[in-house]
Amino acid sequence: MSKEKIESSTKKLNILFVAAEVVPFAKTGGLADVAGALPKAIKELGHNIIVVMPRYYKIDNSKLRKLEAPLSVPMGVMGEFWAGVYTSTLPNSDVPIYFIDHEEYFGRSGLYEDDGGGYEDNDNRFIFFSKAALQLCKMLHFTPDIIHTNDWHTAAIPLLSRTRFVHDFAHAANVLTIHNLQHQGNFYRGLMDVMEVGWEHFNEHEFKSFDRVNLLKGGIYHADAITTVSKKYAEEIQTEEFGFGLESHIRGHSHKLIGILNGVDYNEWNPSVDEFLVEKYDIGNMSGKLACKADIQKHFNLEVRDDVPVIGFVGRFAEQKGIGLIAGVIHGLLDLDVQIIMLGTGEKWAEGFFSDVSYHRDNFGLHVGYSDELAHKIEAGSDMFLMPSLFEPCGLNQIYSLRYGTLPIVRGTGGLDDTIVNFDEHHEHGNGFKFYEASQEALYYTVLWAINIYKDDKKAFEDMQETAMKQHFGWDDSARAYEEVYQYALNKKRK
Ligand code: ADP
Ligand code: GLC
Repeated sequence: MSKEKIESSTKKLNILFVAAEVVPFAKTGGLADVAGALPKAIKELGHNIIVVMPRYYKIDNSKLRKLEAPLSVPMGVMGEFWAGVYTSTLPNSDVPIYFIDHEEYFGRSGLYEDDGGGYEDNDNRFIFFSKAALQLCKMLHFTPDIIHTNDWHTAAIPLLSRTRFVHDFAHAANVLTIHNLQHQGNFYRGLMDVMEVGWEHFNEHEFKSFDRVNLLKGGIYHADAITTVSKKYAEEIQTEEFGFGLESHIRGHSHKLIGILNGVDYNEWNPSVDEFLVEKYDIGNMSGKLACKADIQKHFNLEVRDDVPVIGFVGRFAEQKGIGLIAGVIHGLLDLDVQIIMLGTGEKWAEGFFSDVSYHRDNFGLHVGYSDELAHKIEAGSDMFLMPSLFEPCGLNQIYSLRYGTLPIVRGTGGLDDTIVNFDEHHEHGNGFKFYEASQEALYYTVLWAINIYKDDKKAFEDMQETAMKQHFGWDDSARAYEEVYQYALNKKRK
């Protein structure tokens, strides 16, 4: 982001924060963690913030309050639709969250898909949601200074707020956060008629991409500021390797792009207070970690042994996460004296492949599915945490792992590179093990190296655990960085 003077202001801002998933209501990945935590940290800085998300039908509405009046949502050529609205607050806070209810679009089992492949009407679902979020502000008489959108689902909002909805949002500045550039919201061009923003915006600079509408591309063009979730990823997405075709577009807007590392909600991810653990622990009292290790060994029917290194993996079974690399080395690794545990769901080939491995190997534990409880138990009970991602905008699990004294083994990309400092044989500092080349060899030898340190240099391993556990990646610092971005966006808007 260019170093224009950022007017410091103590002015309390009205912020509309819009996201497709928010913890604890609905989650498929890290976006939900961020959307459930960042608004609270921004509120702590004294701003007025409201959060809006869809009311997926798996969200239990018995504890939500229903607003009396429904919203009318203009859907262009499709006519006028109606939405119900529920409300609540983010847990342990007074940040209001609103849920947009529309059975036809959100009364399904999944958020974006049921069983592989997205829903065919994801374009209309999320344009509907985006417009409903703006209509809701009008209904609440909430006039945002800042509209903070996230990923492609809400990336039409910057333009919507200055065309179809300009009457009510003319003064709002738009900040768009890119959590993952791989997903861009690429749809049939006719979506322009549902958006009602005018076909003049269907051009190579804005929404047009190979004769289709690319929502993220248009959002990048129209946002006053763009953020992504680590400094390294902000650089990477400007290159062909990580840009998913948008690299030159992003380079053209790099003056308004900045990387801000995600934080961690330490009320939730912290071994000294974690209710999921059989025994809590912390620096200076690590015996609980051994109890947690025994607990997951039992859970996964592995031999209960203190001295064998346990390596955990929690994440989507997606190419992004390096599951192809893991699949390539898993048998070689399992030939070593090690136990490996994986929790995840996603690509069918991977679910099948790892199920087959677990059938044949007794030092391998697998849970195909989604389980918050197991995710916490694996973080605590493992000695090391595996994240060999091909790309990783930020990555949260490696940061959670640090707090649990579970040393990350990562590929040095994006947020993984920004947060993990490699073990250094001579100084014995660092907080994990890192390799750069996206190859099976590099992964295999890095894991082997980590296992050797674990077995032969206990002191170095324990020093690193302590270093890791003392680190702090709180939301407070990130929220302050977002506050600066909000000011930048407002200044830019006023020019
Ligand atoms: P991404 O958003 O790319 O999936 P992150 O590391 O940012 O990656 O965040 C993933 C989040 O989702 C973490 O909180 C992780 O614990 C959680 N998660 C992923 N898969 C599972 C699963 N199968 N069960 C429980 N939690 C999961
Ligand atoms: C995305 C990224 C992940 C990031 C998360 C939250 O899903 O893949 O790296 O941590 O968003 O920003």
